[in-house]
Amino acid sequence: MNMRSQPANIIIFASGTGSNTRNIIERFRDNPAIHIALIVSNKHDAGVLSIASKENIPTLILDKVRFFKGDAYVPELQQLKPSLIVLAGFLWKIPSALVNTFPKKIINIHPALLPKYGGKGMYGNHVHEAVKNAGETETGITIHFVDEQYDHGEHILQAKVPVEPTDTPNSIAQKVHALEYQHLPEVIRQLIFEPAKP
Ligand code: GRF
Repeated sequence: MNMRSQPANIIIFASGTGSNTRNIIERFRDNPAIHIALIVSNKHDAGVLSIASKENIPTLILDKVRFFKGDAYVPELQQLKPSLIVLAGFLWKIPSALVNTFPKKIINIHPALLPKYGGKGMYGNHVHEAVKNAGETETGITIHFVDEQYDHGEHILQAKVPVEPTDTPNSIAQKVHALEYQHLPEVIRQLIFEPAKP
């Protein structure tokens, strides 16, 4: 049972369509113990920002210079005392200033079974095309802590799905997204409220 008097703040970093963000919002909408405090993006026109605006969630847009060369935004994030920072479709490498300020509090979801199909350039359909081209018979998701290397930190959860010969990169993407929607909110909940057994 959670004994906090204040809700746990979550910050989401996302720069894509934001379907995982929407799923997280919906999952915790009626849970007063969890509050989506901020959505951070590096794209002014990211779909996720429309979701944020519809849901009245504050946003922070960071350009490359601000994100990589300055760290003025770090205290802004600190002020929110986030219980967790969730990268859900954020493609830039997280700078040391951020990793060091929030040790074990930043997680990423990757749409493949790391260490396969990870690293710079491995995102979205590039991942699913590579999985298809390699003739893999299974793929899945990896939720992991974030360190200073792409797709590298300690794994929290992997979940698998079969790849059939008839699958296309698009159908693989759909299966992988379904796994993401199923597992990411639950991992978030467990990390916040049952940190010993995510
Ligand atoms: C997801 O597939 C996630 O694994 C990856 O980026 C994608 C984001 O999708 N890191 P969406 O914007 O949440 O739909």
